[in-house]
Amino acid sequence: MERTLVLLKPDTLQRRLMGRIIGRFEDKGLRIVGLKMMRVTRDLAEKHYAEHREKPFFEALVQFITAAPLVAMVIEGDEAIETVRRLMGTTNPRQAAPGTIRGDYGMVVTCNLVHGSDAPASAGREIPLFFAPDEILEYTTSDAAWLGA
Ligand code: RTP
Ligand code: MG
Repeated sequence: MERTLVLLKPDTLQRRLMGRIIGRFEDKGLRIVGLKMMRVTRDLAEKHYAEHREKPFFEALVQFITAAPLVAMVIEGDEAIETVRRLMGTTNPRQAAPGTIRGDYGMVVTCNLVHGSDAPASAGREIPLFFAPDEILEYTTSDAAWLGA
């Protein structure tokens, strides 16, 4: 069982898409074990995207992610990290496959709707940036036997 950090970025909330996008993760059979709405500070944005600090798009990325509230989630399931990344689609929404979140809803590389941790080490680093341990809930659902959860 893996956990991954998912962010519904500010464009998702501004475009009133959060219900539909949360629904994609629920429909797949993943379990949401942490969820909150928050306004990301510049300090948190710089820590979260530290690997991109030297990239030309870094400032635009930080401006975007801090511009308005977002939803942070911890999502759990077998191979949750890769499963979420496949549901999201590739970084540039114009090239993302139809059927993926980015492929279905986005047109702008910065405004690509969702973030998902890209590896176990990233998830392990990112989840504590956004969630205190007592904000993550341990539970099972009644359909667990049918979903391998
Ligand atoms: P994320 O971290 O947000 O889940 O996205 P990702 O793994 O698919 O892409 P990553 O390479 O980690 O890039 C982080 C975010 O930076 C923005 N970006 N802009 N202008 C550009 O060429 C460019 N490239 C990346 C995107 O918003 C991307 O999600
Ligand atoms: Mg990334």
